[in-house]
Amino acid sequence: MARGRFVTFEGIDGAGKTTHLAWFRDRLADKLAATGRTVVMTREPGGTALGESLREILLHQPMDLETEALLMFAARREHLAQVIEPALARGDWVLSDRFTDATFAYQGGGRGLPRDKLETLERWVQGGFQPDLTVLFDIAPDTASERRGAAREPDRFESETDAFFTRTRGEYLRRAEEAPYRFTIVDSTQSIEDIRKRLENVIASL
Ligand SMILES: Nc1ncnc2c1ncn2[C@@H]1O[C@H](COP(=O)(O)OP(=O)(O)O)[C@@H](O)[C@H]1O
Ligand SMILES: [Mg+2]
Repeated sequence: MARGRFVTFEGIDGAGKTTHLAWFRDRLADKLAATGRTVVMTREPGGTALGESLREILLHQPMDLETEALLMFAARREHLAQVIEPALARGDWVLSDRFTDATFAYQGGGRGLPRDKLETLERWVQGGFQPDLTVLFDIAPDTASERRGAAREPDRFESETDAFFTRTRGEYLRRAEEAPYRFTIVDSTQSIEDIRKRLENVIASL
């Protein structure tokens, strides 16, 4: 069977990624059912036992910015080796809640880590490997912050300022402009229903 495809969801905290992830997985799985392929749904940081342990540390433990970037890529290396690569090799599709664009957006755009350092780690961990499709859920930081609300204790990223998320969003949009063949930008101010209609079209075009 031919290699599967790799789809990622990106966007700042509160943009709506998780809201649509399982639904998108189900729609994609329906479409692929006749081909015998399945869809593996996963997330970053995380996706493996070690990755989920690193996620806990990354989301809650204060650390140096470069340590943060290194741990993100360490979790990613494990994710690629244990989950993403084997799934794609056997012909399945992979749908991930975040991937490397998030590291460029958060650690690069948000926190200001120089891009060339991230590019060095990216080359080390994944060579030239990139998602086949990245859905970028785009929304203004103040709206995203309202949506996140006060339902639970915010993690180290969720508790960042609007200024941080403005830089993060800017870097996401810059990357989308740089690689338009890979990115689809969804206007996340729309209703969930309208976004699903848009995503239906995205799935139909795959
Ligand atoms: N299109 C939308 N309109 C209104 N509220 C939304 C919309 N999409 C998501 N939400 C709500 O916003 C919050 C954040 O969404 P979530 O999917 O968790 O974002 P993310 O995973 O990108 O951080 C959730 O409470 C969710 O129900
Ligand atoms: Mg989420």
